[in-house]
Amino acid sequence: MTTATAPTTATTDTAPGATTTLAARRVAELGARARHCGLYDRLGAPLYQDLATYDDPETRALLSGVRTAPGPVLDLAAGAGRFTLPLLAGGREVTALDLSADMLDLLRAALDRAPASMRSRCTVVQGDMSAFALGRRFPHILLGTTSLSLLDADGRAGLYRSVLDHLADGGRFRLTALERGDDDGPDETAVRVTGAGGTAYELYEHWPAGADSRSVTLLPADPPADDSPVTVCTDRVAVIGLDVLEAELAAAGLTVLTRELLTPPGERHRVTLLTTEATR
Ligand SMILES: C[S@@+](CC[C@H](N)C(=O)[O-])C[C@H]1O[C@@H](n2cnc3c(N)ncnc32)[C@H](O)[C@@H]1O
Repeated sequence: MTTATAPTTATTDTAPGATTTLAARRVAELGARARHCGLYDRLGAPLYQDLATYDDPETRALLSGVRTAPGPVLDLAAGAGRFTLPLLAGGREVTALDLSADMLDLLRAALDRAPASMRSRCTVVQGDMSAFALGRRFPHILLGTTSLSLLDADGRAGLYRSVLDHLADGGRFRLTALERGDDDGPDETAVRVTGAGGTAYELYEHWPAGADSRSVTLLPADPPADDSPVTVCTDRVAVIGLDVLEAELAAAGLTVLTRELLTPPGERHRVTLLTTEATR
């Protein structure tokens, strides 16, 4: 999703007892019209999908990593298929695993529209990336979109165990991680973004420097001027420093082979691609 577009920044009112974020104020304005949901459920998934990007540095880096060796790919937290679909289009066999039935419904709908030869190479699995057992191994396992941040420490430990159980000899586990790249940026940003379907959205992110979590709020920018419900998606996710992540990977038995910065230096969202293998 396009969380890294140039922000229209704003400071927040941190007076005790005050409404502390721009997002909270916007939602308060909507009052009873606000229909709250997560980013990946029945109401939120279509908005998330509308904002998905396909030609971006992360997608390109993950796909070019996969191109270094043949074989099937396990796409973890695959969602509606931002990586799965181009991998299939490139001729790969892909297992797409995600927890959300609503996100997987969007993937299945995209597969239904795709050529039969692509569809036949895709296995869709509803499952938890922190505890899965597919009974086979893969030369490539991906966890993109910095989705590692959706797991707590126990979940991440389970993820590393499950990944090791599914990594073929010499296989690679590639994952992306998100850190704050601007030390003096504002606590909260608000951007207006337009989805593929032409709908404009307001996207708020509250992420004080040094915080161990950040929250994202997404809602349509121009709801009708009546009393109809307005979908408001919110999500709070963990922030895991690269040093902590690398220590966890090493302790779990995964060696980091390369680190690739995917965003320009100083940008608020600093995304790093780690390529790992099972420690020999
Ligand atoms: C940021 S989205 C990424 C989706 C897709 N990779 C993309 O780039 O559009 C995160 C995805 O993780 C999924 N997810 C959240 N927790 C999960 C879990 N424990 N196991 C598997 N998937 C999970 C969500 O349903 C959502 O589809």
